[in-house]
Amino acid sequence: MSNQESVAVQEHGTSGRSTIVKVENLSKTYNGKLKAVDNVSFEIKEGEIFGFLGPNGAGKSTTINMLTTLIRPTSGKSEICGYDIHKQPNEVRRNVGVVPQEYTADEDMTGHNNIILCADLYGIPRSDSEPHADELLKLVELQDAANRKVSTYSVGMRRRLELACGLINYPKLLFLDEPTLGLDVQTRAAVWKYIRMFKE
Ligand SMILES: Nc1ncnc2c1ncn2[C@@H]1O[C@H](COP(=O)(O)OP(=O)(O)OP(=O)(O)O)[C@@H](O)[C@H]1O
Ligand SMILES: [Mg+2]
Repeated sequence: MSNQESVAVQEHGTSGRSTIVKVENLSKTYNGKLKAVDNVSFEIKEGEIFGFLGPNGAGKSTTINMLTTLIRPTSGKSEICGYDIHKQPNEVRRNVGVVPQEYTADEDMTGHNNIILCADLYGIPRSDSEPHADELLKLVELQDAANRKVSTYSVGMRRRLELACGLINYPKLLFLDEPTLGLDVQTRAAVWKYIRMFKE
């Protein structure tokens, strides 16, 4: 992905707010030859919904993986919530939530227990994560399915569960990789509704 190939969709009316994502000349080359991300720079302000669009293989997931510290950039720098992705990866991870492109939920566990597992991985005490999980399940309208195994969920229900998991650590910034992939028009609209709600 390069600044020329991809399209950034940016909301208006956020000038004057502080910068939450700063990306400068970020590049990623896989195995020394495949240039997946080519010298990308952009800024995102607090309170903004920012999206980048590009064809399959454009480097969208690679960019998200670099910004969430899952993979190291080949060159360039970035600050997320004021923290340097190279020097302060733990601080970056504490401040962001991620909903990856692929489903991560454990099929044999209930929706509720999947959220608690995410919370445990962040070291959040159960006294906090239990009520917060219930709150998030309600928010994404999964409270009635909370104690069902994920293997019985529809695609839209799984997506909404992934969203809830991404919010368990009270992130300042939420990364969503293809949040509406495979969803019908109605569920797609519902997911957008939740995303706008989280922004408030
Ligand atoms: N781990 C990897 N090792 C080698 N090449 C990779 C790896 N991950 C991605 N790539 C390559 O990098 C390029 C960008 O991939 P990426 O997954 O970031 O694209 P994307 O924009 O998210 O695509 P999609 O819309 O299909 O999700 C592709 O050519 C892909 O084959
Ligand atoms: Mg992708």
